[in-house]
Amino acid sequence: MKILALSASPHPHGNSAHLVDELLAGAREVGAQTERLDINAMSIKGCQGDYACKRFGKCGVKDDMQTIYQKIDEADAVVFASPVYMLNINAQLKTVMDRLFHYMNMDLSSRINPPKRSALIVTQGQPDAELFKPYLSAIPQILGMLGFGETHMLLGEGLRAPDEATKRPDLQARAREIGKQLATA
Ligand SMILES: Cc1cc2nc3c(=O)[nH]c(=O)nc-3n(C[C@H](O)[C@H](O)[C@H](O)COP(=O)(O)O)c2cc1C
Repeated sequence: MKILALSASPHPHGNSAHLVDELLAGAREVGAQTERLDINAMSIKGCQGDYACKRFGKCGVKDDMQTIYQKIDEADAVVFASPVYMLNINAQLKTVMDRLFHYMNMDLSSRINPPKRSALIVTQGQPDAELFKPYLSAIPQILGMLGFGETHMLLGEGLRAPDEATKRPDLQARAREIGKQLATA
């Protein structure tokens, strides 16, 4: 069982990255192999809208996304993680999400077969956990269309300072639990 995490925060030791690490630790406890990629440190261009992925079967943009495609192909489960920026996931993760169009056929059916397991971790300064859900709910929806199956969701609210997730045993426990579920379900 291989679990890949795509962590989109520019803070490698920030809130969302900390919860990713907790999730992956939970997965390792039940025997999974795990890897975290910090996509902010990678070179990833926005989708060029050339439909090369539909015409030739693969994305034509040669950048670090090619590494991510290969690692997604090899993974059984993928974790997506982002801080909330301006009510939604950050641009780093949105850029990767757009490039995942590569996994859709022209009729929008999925090229991911069998479906992979997935999780979405989002952290926000705002203490009201409900406030951005109308925007964030599009992510599990698009992951489902891409072929990722049910998405386990972890929303860390009220996390303003970068180390605040380290003081939240409730979120840490939930992250570990999701890690175990991804690795064993
Ligand atoms: C550019 C920017 C925009 C932000 N926008 C929001 C927002 O709309 N709502 C919110 O609750 N927090 C917002 N925040 C706060 C972050 O979501 C919060 O601090 C988060 O826990 C940071 O996660 P990280 O440590 O993983 O980077 C914003 C932070 C930045 C830098």
